[in-house]
Amino acid sequence: MQPFEKMLLENRAWAQEKTFYDPGYFGRLLNVQTPDVLWIGCSDSRVPAETIVNAQPGEMFVHRNIANQILSSDLNSQSVIEYAVEVLAVKHIIVCGHYNCGGIKAAMDQTTDNLFLVSQWLTDFKSIIEHSDEISPLDSSYETRLKRCVELNVIQQVKHLTNTDLIQRKWRDHKKPSLHGWVYGLEDGLIKELIRRDPHST
Ligand code: CO
Repeated sequence: MQPFEKMLLENRAWAQEKTFYDPGYFGRLLNVQTPDVLWIGCSDSRVPAETIVNAQPGEMFVHRNIANQILSSDLNSQSVIEYAVEVLAVKHIIVCGHYNCGGIKAAMDQTTDNLFLVSQWLTDFKSIIEHSDEISPLDSSYETRLKRCVELNVIQQVKHLTNTDLIQRKWRDHKKPSLHGWVYGLEDGLIKELIRRDPHST
């Protein structure tokens, strides 16, 4: 069986199981979505947003891209953020990176020569690495530096988010959303909090 065929079969089984235990399950989700959370994570297949926090359909609005970047020039993530904040009025935005991130590794090693688009995508973070005092190539092992880069990236993306006109305006008028920077460990499945920005902290 092909992977996509298995997926279609799994989907049927999943939908049947949901309605077997709760006949009104899909009916309740049909016309409304009221998630409290916008999740911005990495596209990595090992970090599935809903699975790692045991969230159900309807609980999280999700955007994922390589190395969980939030760039003002990126219409995709910016429009997701606008919709989540203006229409869904989410209470929290979570930026969740992960250790051993291939995107961060590529930015750190400058190994994106054959990946023109990925290289372009990571330009901003590559320049942050170059100009950061926190990542010294001399004082630590490669693994330690990679960990620091992953954490620095999350913190940087939360800063980008904080500085958007949209978030600044919402904080003045509505006292939400709170911004959270998290990092996920592939080795133990656990999330660590790195940074939190609340409206009153401006
Ligand atoms: Co990644």
